[in-house]
Amino acid sequence: GSVEKATFSWSAPSNIALVKYWGKKETGDQIPANPSISFTLSNCKTITSLNVSAKQNPSDDFSFDLLFEGKPKEDFKPKIQKFLERIEGYCPYLKSYHLEIDTQNTFPHSSGIASSASGMAALAVNIMSLEKMLKPEISKDYFNQKASFLARLGSGSACRSVHGKVVIWGKHQDTTESSDLFGVEFSEVHENFKNYQDTILLVDKGEKQVSSTVGHNLMHNHPYASQRFDQAQYNLTAIKQILSQGDLERFVELVESEALTLHAMMMTSMPYFILMKPNTLEIINKIWRFRNETQVPVCFTLDAGANVHVLYPESVKEKVLQFIQNELVVYCQNGQYICDQIGNGSQLI
Ligand code: PMV
Repeated sequence: GSVEKATFSWSAPSNIALVKYWGKKETGDQIPANPSISFTLSNCKTITSLNVSAKQNPSDDFSFDLLFEGKPKEDFKPKIQKFLERIEGYCPYLKSYHLEIDTQNTFPHSSGIASSASGMAALAVNIMSLEKMLKPEISKDYFNQKASFLARLGSGSACRSVHGKVVIWGKHQDTTESSDLFGVEFSEVHENFKNYQDTILLVDKGEKQVSSTVGHNLMHNHPYASQRFDQAQYNLTAIKQILSQGDLERFVELVESEALTLHAMMMTSMPYFILMKPNTLEIINKIWRFRNETQVPVCFTLDAGANVHVLYPESVKEKVLQFIQNELVVYCQNGQYICDQIGNGSQLI
């Protein structure tokens, strides 16, 4: 088919890894060194519209405009340009169009919440909408799988933001069901994890000290790299069992260990980084004390920064929110935190 003009609009959520992706193969195409698994979030998302119009004078260059929150955003353009170049071979139709990308996030920019996962996923599903218009015969499964594949080429963890709930990305030694090329939903999840909560405490909203590109590269020649990659394989086996059995106690232990290991990798690389802030540690200690005193199965995880994700079952929501308000909010920058929970993945608007 051919299309002269069309507009699509999608939202794509952020995700929070339980077993972390940290390190990639040296193949240059975003192949992870170890498998990872994440909860897809619900409220923290990017909403992107893509306006396409057939070019009058087809050229060899990509032609696109970028609007962020309604205003032209020049400094995001190189990242998009690089993304389009990377996916060009898979989406040869892109150069026949002028693209107008209009994007916004539901969470504050520079909140320290990475928008690359939701942003790249939202762009990828929009591009697949164009492909679907050109090739109406493609199936829903193909659409989603290729959207995740394209999102991965934008930002690795973005491939986990197309599908909902719990998503695995990366070849796992135990099974042939997961892939290095795209995320797949893990469906055997126990009721205990239904509507699992993630309250994100904004400890430090400053610019990222280490970009994830630099971060992943720190795993090349890292003294503990091979042990870490083995451990992630092992932890993925364990967490699949934990999620399907509803074992909250082992969940807490594994998830916190993964978060601290991610930071341990950064502390033991060359150059080395400490991405936690004093308030990050204050929060961790408070969570440990609260858990010891109440037996409430609440735990933390971290991404490559100082913010803390507080994870807990929906059944203890009231108790935990009260604890957060009474004891943890004082450690947040301007008292800011975001309440989120497991969600459904990318949605057509
Ligand atoms: O997708 P990237 O390249 O921004 O890497 C994400 C890395 C972590 O957030 C630290 C871990 C993960 O698995 O999401």
